[in-house]
Amino acid sequence: MLLQTEHAVAGVLSSAATEHDARPRLLEAIGEVLGWHVGAYWVPDEEGDRTVLRCVAAWHAPALPADEFVRASLEATYDPPDILPGRVWLSGEPAWVADVRERFHLARAAAAARTGLRSAFGVPIRGRDAALGAMEFFSTDLHATDDDLLATMTSLGTQIGQFVERCRALEAVRASEARKSAILNAAFDCIITMDADGRIVEVNEATEATFGYTSDQLVGGDLAELMIPPGKLRDAHRRGLRRYVETGASRMVGHPVELDAMRADGSTFPIELAVTRPDVPGAPLFCGYLRDVTERKEAERSLQALADEQAALRRVATAVAAELEPAQLFALITEEIGRLLEVGSSYVLRYDDDRQTAVVIGAWADDGVDRMPNGTTVPLDGDTVVPTVWRTGRPARVASFEGMSGELAALLRARGLYGSLGAPVTVAGRLWGAMVLSQTTPEPLAPGTEDRLVNFAKLAGQAIANAAAREELAASRARIVEAGDAERRRLERNLHDGAQQRLVATSLSVRLAAARAKEDPQLRGMLDRAGDELSLALEELRELARGLHPAILSDLGLGPALQTLAERAPVPVDVDVALDGERLPEPVEAAAYYVVAEALTNIAKYAQASEARVRVGRDDARAFVEVVDDGVGGADETCGSGLRGLADRVEALGGRLTVTSPAGAGTRLRADLPAG
Ligand SMILES: Nc1ncnc2c1ncn2[C@@H]1O[C@H](COP(=O)(O)OP(=O)(O)OP(=O)(O)O)[C@@H](O)[C@H]1O
Ligand SMILES: [Mg+2]
Repeated sequence: MLLQTEHAVAGVLSSAATEHDARPRLLEAIGEVLGWHVGAYWVPDEEGDRTVLRCVAAWHAPALPADEFVRASLEATYDPPDILPGRVWLSGEPAWVADVRERFHLARAAAAARTGLRSAFGVPIRGRDAALGAMEFFSTDLHATDDDLLATMTSLGTQIGQFVERCRALEAVRASEARKSAILNAAFDCIITMDADGRIVEVNEATEATFGYTSDQLVGGDLAELMIPPGKLRDAHRRGLRRYVETGASRMVGHPVELDAMRADGSTFPIELAVTRPDVPGAPLFCGYLRDVTERKEAERSLQALADEQAALRRVATAVAAELEPAQLFALITEEIGRLLEVGSSYVLRYDDDRQTAVVIGAWADDGVDRMPNGTTVPLDGDTVVPTVWRTGRPARVASFEGMSGELAALLRARGLYGSLGAPVTVAGRLWGAMVLSQTTPEPLAPGTEDRLVNFAKLAGQAIANAAAREELAASRARIVEAGDAERRRLERNLHDGAQQRLVATSLSVRLAAARAKEDPQLRGMLDRAGDELSLALEELRELARGLHPAILSDLGLGPALQTLAERAPVPVDVDVALDGERLPEPVEAAAYYVVAEALTNIAKYAQASEARVRVGRDDARAFVEVVDDGVGGADETCGSGLRGLADRVEALGGRLTVTSPAGAGTRLRADLPAG
């Protein structure tokens, strides 16, 4: 009977294709041969973080109504120590239970009893390193422990274990094969295997799609001939392969490179290639992983173009912000756009609507290309780009001046220009001029050129608007200061010629009256006091006039004027005017005077200084005035109107006022002024 069991098991194992397929057949074969009534096959399983035992197959003798017990086995999982097969699996050793009724503490014991089961045994399914599971069998009869049966079953358990491991290994191989071909075919990369003779051994689907061959056309063919463009590359490939076979040295294996490949139709395209030499026995094989990088190359190129454009725009924008002189700015803009868009020459022109002309105010030309210089005036006739932009206010393109009528077209042809593209430059909503790209060859312009030109033309417009606004601002400030000064001069004159003269005359009359009123001491006293008051009023009037516009400044110059200011200051003031006796321009002199006057007034009011120093000097085209005190510091030009007014006055002249006044460390007020 034991031998019969062995045969039955061997029969199942030799015919079963899978572990899954074998399990119920093993239970049935063993159960029937042994004449036992219920069998179950258990394997470990993970449930959360604990290992349980799960029944994956069960059998019972057809005559025995064992459904309840079989269900109890199949439908639950068990803690290994709670069931017989669990303890067998844990220990790796077989076990015999003569009567399950005596083991009521075990799970399923009640169901077993109700089914009428009495004896049981369990055997481990032994793998190479551990038990892979266990089988259990039940009989409705009472059986004493049968060591021979257990020994035979244990050995069969080991055979079954080996079968299971073999099944699993095969399954793993199958799965990995399936994965491999799925991976190869799902790969975007072309994967090509080549032997040491340079013949293609295997290709994936991506290779077929990329190269335009079917795999049949490729496999067995010469890789160099099929996939590498003829010439240098193909020769290098053959040389490299020979060298590898002879010496084992390779420049390609393990070193990714970028080169060109060839499609079935002979067209070439850029690829990135990595070659490996898989470590397989026999003649060497090479695996090439290769990717079509046409799009990437294209993307890189357009990214580079974009980066170049951004950089050029940034440089221009920086120049605009830096308030570069218009001439310099337009030279920069035309050069940037000309180089960026790779045209022969580029221009900025300003329209003069009245005279129906445009004048070049910025020009750039590539080496060896003729350039119309700044100041060139062109007529706005015909249909070339500059007149068209002028008429329409929109970008315009002329591919060729060939056969065009008009003076300007003839002029352009004479200069060897072929075609051009122009965009309007608008300032404050008004068409101001045009930015133009000129070509010396009939080549078409790159796509996107017009948009780029339009962008640069906008920047140019902004730059012009900025410059105009700056000039406008400076002019209006100058006008205000000038008007103020003129008003001060007028008041001073009026006071001098009008009120002052009258007061002087009245003062004389009062003094005269006083002299005549000797007899009346009371009247005389009154007249004397009136005379004194008048003198004081006169003095005050003079003071006032001096503050408005010091006559001494106009008459004697900055040195003496500043000296008088210093004398009236409450602290000692050292004045050093180093102008070699030369006079500064009148507005500069006035500004310098007012700077010192305000500074000394502020010192008197706030500085609590013990002394102050005034210095005036010039070098070449610039003059400076500096007033320094040793007081409390903390001057703040946003607080009052004095320093702000000075800044206005100085900046209106194109100069700059600087206040340096750290708390506790005195104040330095400095004005730098153009004096050329
Ligand atoms: N030399 C100085 N030392 C200390 N503080 C100063 C000095 N000069 C100016 N300040 C401070 O800076 C502020 C601004 O001066 P600013 O001359 O602009 O206005 P102001 O003197 O207050 O008013 P205004 O000049 O219009 O009469 C002053 O209010 C004062 O607090
Ligand atoms: Mg002040």
